[in-house]
Amino acid sequence: MKGKLSVKHLLSIRDLTPEDVELIFKTADNFKGILNAPIKKVPSLRDITIVNLFFENSTRTRVSFELAEKRLSADVINFSSSSSSVSKGESLLDTVNNLLAMKVDMVVMRHPAPGACQYLSHHIPAILINAGDGTHEHPTQALLDAYTLTQYWGGSIRGKKIAIVGDIRHSRVAFSDLLIFQKLGAEVCVCGPGTLIPPDMTSVGCKVSYDLDETLAWCDAVIMLRIQLERQDTAYIPSLRDYSLGYGLTRDRLQKIGREIPVLHPGPINRGVEISSEVADAPQSQILNQVENGVAVRMAVLYLLAGVAGG
Ligand code: CP
Repeated sequence: MKGKLSVKHLLSIRDLTPEDVELIFKTADNFKGILNAPIKKVPSLRDITIVNLFFENSTRTRVSFELAEKRLSADVINFSSSSSSVSKGESLLDTVNNLLAMKVDMVVMRHPAPGACQYLSHHIPAILINAGDGTHEHPTQALLDAYTLTQYWGGSIRGKKIAIVGDIRHSRVAFSDLLIFQKLGAEVCVCGPGTLIPPDMTSVGCKVSYDLDETLAWCDAVIMLRIQLERQDTAYIPSLRDYSLGYGLTRDRLQKIGREIPVLHPGPINRGVEISSEVADAPQSQILNQVENGVAVRMAVLYLLAGVAGG
């Protein structure tokens, strides 16, 4: 596999060119083939050591990165803040510099502070991948979401209408998805209660809707998001029951539009709140495809950033 990204780190979707995204998707296609073959491992990152630094809870992203790294034969160290010396008052920079002194080449980091990865990138020499920074960005989730839709539509999302529904205000996935979909030529609408949509969304070139049924009638694909209660310092909705009545995706709502659209969700899903069980488990649900594609996309990102690709 040949090719080079225009960036040293993956901090934000904003930094990627459409050519970078295309290269990541082409590389992911190759890795997806390998992941579905009897021997799922390649020696590409045999001499590379990667630390997964997770300062926030994660199931999908943490396991997906670890699996991607192991499939590429990297040496992998998993670090969680709760069992580390961070709880004794060590700074982020001191923690990372101590890890780098042990000859770590790449750092995958999830952190509750928006911009934490950008901050580190100015102070350390290792390659950095943002695995989610507070309410700011989740670039590998956006890449795998766009990759899943690209595959669903047979090669391109250009000209498609994509709705992102839910807690836009607190969602790093919403922001990264918006950036990548627009970069690849899709039209985006964000939908949710007014309290969960930031006031300046139209200035970034997307539609805004407060009506889920109208939005479903408009879009070619819908991405559902959970309510991020852990990031809310006040009540933004009267109750989860009220929210679900207004913005929960049900089979009845999907049937009303009279055509089948793909339904995505980055997880974790809250069944019966933003998505019904019938919809989450329906054939048009892409939720587990997203998880499967996540490993191939993260392998592609790690492989390309490690600089082992020729050309
Ligand atoms: N989609 C996502 O980031 O899930 P996790 O929080 O489980 O990693």
